Amino acid sequence: MCGIVGGIGQFPIRDYLINGLKTLDYRGYDSAGVALAEPEGIRVFRMPGRVQALDEATPRDLHVVLGIGHTRWATHGAPTANNAHPHTSMNGEFVLVHNGVIDNFRHLKNKLEAEGYVFHSETDTEVVANLLEFHYNRLKNVKAAMLAMIEELQGSYALAILKKGDLKHIYFAKNRSPLVVGHGEGKNLLASDFLPMLKEGKDFAPILDHQYGYITEDTIKIFNEDGSVANPKFTRPDLKIEDIGLQGYPHYMLKEIEEAPAVVRRLIDNYFDGNQFLFDPKLINKLKAADDIIFIACGTSYHACLIGRRYMEYLGKRSEVYIASEWAYHPFVSAKNPMFVIVSQSGETADLIRCMEIINSRGAVSLTITNTKGSTLERDATYSLLLFAGVEIAVASTKAYVAQVALLSLLTGAMDDSTAVVSHLYDVIKAENAVIANSESLKPTAKYLSGKKDVFFLGRGTDYDVALEASLKLKEITYIHSEGLPGGELKHGPIALIEKDTPVIGFISDPLTDLPIRSNFKEVEARGATVITVVSKSLAKAGDSITVPDVKEYLSPLVKVLVAQYLAYFAALELKVNIDKPRNLAKSVTVE
Ligand code: M6R
Repeated sequence: MCGIVGGIGQFPIRDYLINGLKTLDYRGYDSAGVALAEPEGIRVFRMPGRVQALDEATPRDLHVVLGIGHTRWATHGAPTANNAHPHTSMNGEFVLVHNGVIDNFRHLKNKLEAEGYVFHSETDTEVVANLLEFHYNRLKNVKAAMLAMIEELQGSYALAILKKGDLKHIYFAKNRSPLVVGHGEGKNLLASDFLPMLKEGKDFAPILDHQYGYITEDTIKIFNEDGSVANPKFTRPDLKIEDIGLQGYPHYMLKEIEEAPAVVRRLIDNYFDGNQFLFDPKLINKLKAADDIIFIACGTSYHACLIGRRYMEYLGKRSEVYIASEWAYHPFVSAKNPMFVIVSQSGETADLIRCMEIINSRGAVSLTITNTKGSTLERDATYSLLLFAGVEIAVASTKAYVAQVALLSLLTGAMDDSTAVVSHLYDVIKAENAVIANSESLKPTAKYLSGKKDVFFLGRGTDYDVALEASLKLKEITYIHSEGLPGGELKHGPIALIEKDTPVIGFISDPLTDLPIRSNFKEVEARGATVITVVSKSLAKAGDSITVPDVKEYLSPLVKVLVAQYLAYFAALELKVNIDKPRNLAKSVTVE
């Protein structure tokens, strides 16, 4: 959700910015722009739509010394060229890009209008540009003007700023929106994450909340809120440029679905040494001692947490799951000694960052489970565990869900002093490979679904948790309306929606719920529905549609979800939609 890239030094900056924006496009956006500083002045190019259009509109024969670029996911104002970033202050003193939302922009705009400022866009970002210029005109010093601006801004922002006539600095400031700086040879860089900097940069460091500073060709200067100089640790992620390519796959989503077995294996390797678990014993003790395990997450990660809660309950522990944007505004906790578990692929989800602020303000203990080393949520938690799933590029989360559930199962094993989960996970790897090998057989079902208006997914127990995730996957990439429902709940209302040939996909993994869920299928069939069953082999009966290998029931989501992911993927393929970048969605949801 909004991407920032910037660079200064001896290298082809125009192409670095455009390619960087293309790398960041997985975050989701609807317009793009660059500001390129030449000795003659700053030139701004902005386009609605894809970065490709910006690429075509941006001249190649410029003498660019430094530049910034941006992909915008519209919040204040439609995705037009006029609202696209970079924004220029009224008298052209500053040109900047912004990721985040300025909560008090209306108040600031009124104030600046009273000072004679005229606005040309509907954005909150133009307010930031004019506010900075206003303070600069008063103080005649960029650092002082930035501090005065920061003092007035309320909300979230990552800012990259160019100053008219200054060919030596790109300024930046950050609060609650991600920003990373990178060293290169004869150049320095900044971006929303390290991916666009991977080729040109050597090592990288995240900017923390309330920090600000600048990059020049040979220095990176970061200041803390109190003006002291920050010295962050620069590291290089264990990732090659090839790792973020499609590697022959037509879409990232397909590649990432098929990485599931490798992801599970990598988790075992990272958290089990063949004899014992490698988790920090202090973390395990905290989890054991907690009187309530409170999961907080969004979207797919929330669905993984539903399974995590069941795991805690199998251990006899009290556990709850909250959607971050809900808990943030009703942060109720009744337990005396809770442990918060924040699960986030990106580690940068704004709703979760707000929850983390509440948790930390109460001095509570937290664990972040994330795929993104160095992310805000990883840094701000008491403990953190990495998912080691590799970068997930497709907006629809697939392998991260697998990693989250698998890691939660390993953690549960460690809390229970039982390593049996490891061999159960090896069975999962085999079963996932079997689903992948037979994936072509899912195409006719996916084709049938692609022609439907509504699809219902049913399950009981963990199968219900999978039904929710299956439904999210289908709707987000095919735009077909779908719902995930607990089988027993149908007759309390939703069955009214079932009509002739409504597709109902039902999951069966547990002998305990086999009979009742099959009764639910009969109920919808009697009303005309077409039922498609996805069944563990040992429970399969004549007439079932899709059979998958058996694994331990508590791990069955790791296999069933692959079927759901393929059905969504193949249906989207039929519909010829943009699978990796579905409309309106962003990979990293960095605004609340
Ligand atoms: O990065 P996070 O795990 O915090 O993201 C949470 C959701 O935004 C994310 O899972 C979203 O629902 C995905 N698009 C689902 O495929």
